Amino acid sequence: MTSSAALQPDPGLIVACTICRDVQEFDLLIEDMETELGESWGDLSFEDAKLFMGQPDAAALEFVAIAMTPQDESNLATISDLIRTANDHNVKVIVIAEDVSPIALHQLLKLGAQEFVPYPLPDGALHDAIERLRTPEPVAPAAPEASNNTQKATGNHNGVVLAVHGMAGGVGTTTFAVNLAWELATVDKKDPPKVCLIDLDLQYGSVATYLDLARREAVFDLLSDTDSMDKDSFMQALLSYEDTFHVMTAPADMLPLDIISSEDVQRLIDTAKANFDYVVVDMPSTVVQWTEVMLHAAHVYFAPLELDMRSAQNTLRMIRALKAEELPFEKLRYILNRSPKFTDMSGKSRVKRMAESLDIDIEVMMPDGGKQVMEACDNGQPIGQTAAKNPLRKEIFKLAVSIHELNLSVAQAD
Ligand SMILES: Nc1ncnc2c1ncn2[C@@H]1O[C@H](COP(=O)(O)OP(=O)(O)OP(=O)(O)O)[C@@H](O)[C@H]1O
Ligand SMILES: [Mg+2]
Repeated sequence: MTSSAALQPDPGLIVACTICRDVQEFDLLIEDMETELGESWGDLSFEDAKLFMGQPDAAALEFVAIAMTPQDESNLATISDLIRTANDHNVKVIVIAEDVSPIALHQLLKLGAQEFVPYPLPDGALHDAIERLRTPEPVAPAAPEASNNTQKATGNHNGVVLAVHGMAGGVGTTTFAVNLAWELATVDKKDPPKVCLIDLDLQYGSVATYLDLARREAVFDLLSDTDSMDKDSFMQALLSYEDTFHVMTAPADMLPLDIISSEDVQRLIDTAKANFDYVVVDMPSTVVQWTEVMLHAAHVYFAPLELDMRSAQNTLRMIRALKAEELPFEKLRYILNRSPKFTDMSGKSRVKRMAESLDIDIEVMMPDGGKQVMEACDNGQPIGQTAAKNPLRKEIFKLAVSIHELNLSVAQAD
């Protein structure tokens, strides 16, 4: 390791620097920096960093990794100033944070830090952050910062809450949530239900991408102060998808999942329910503190999974965790995505074995929809708009119809 880039007589090409009070407190960071960059990085104190970034030696600097603990929160002004200086010199910033408050983190991200990685560093997290820094940013969709939602809050609904929580990453949770919301919104042309889709996958939420909508700062403002949220500020945080349904996208910055509390989620869902007929929520696949609120609030808690060991083991762990906490695990409705074709006998017996070994019913089978699905997602449109005859779309449509019919009959019986 290069102990001090500023003082090193011949530091070679320094492409990155750690900046912190005492780098020895971040030994995993030292290891990962060495793995990623060999000798071409240095370490700076908060005091030296600003000066160094202005020196010719810093010309090759690609990024700085600012590492901080709660102790450094009192020094937030200096750190903010460093982020601005780095931005002025076209140097990217990764914040490495150990137990730093979500509010402080958000402030730093807002100031222009490009990446946030928690400390202790998860395996490969620094590598991934560096890769993302090096990848040119895709052109963001031209989207308004102001809400395009002209609908007024009414507060007189009592909507059905449908949560979607993937049993593993990438099992099609968001695809299902987005398309279910669209199908529900278009299920009855004469009397279209009012539908709201909320992306609570605060870190990787891709609802915005799949509907080509902006990620808005208003969403963070709403979530960080739900005490003062009312139906109007809630409606203002939503975007309308082609006047068909309403969407709360995940915030622009990648936020820690505990930035919102159980109370925040409860208020958010209560407000959404009061203004919509259906509230579809895309949940993170991680179990968080507020998962419990959603489990209680949801009328149906969809659990997509795939026919593989990863999904099976995660599902088992999830059921055990919910049982241990005495949470309503029986609310989970399992959806098998990319399910085997009707003619695939061995696939079907694997599904049967998986359901038996987990002691669950797999109630919905969603087929592989092929390339059309990814294309619809990438184009930012529901599959029903781009490939109405797609087999996956047909299944989600049928499910939406049955949910709506059931809801109407329950409403009539009341
Ligand atoms: N049944 C399907 N047929 C074809 N492609 C699918 C199907 N389901 C999902 N996909 C594709 O798989 C990819 C991942 O889907 P999606 O983003 O919905 O997963 P996810 O569970 O929300 O992932 P993450 O864990 O990242 O949130 C997308 O490109 C989507 O288009
Ligand atoms: Mg997703």
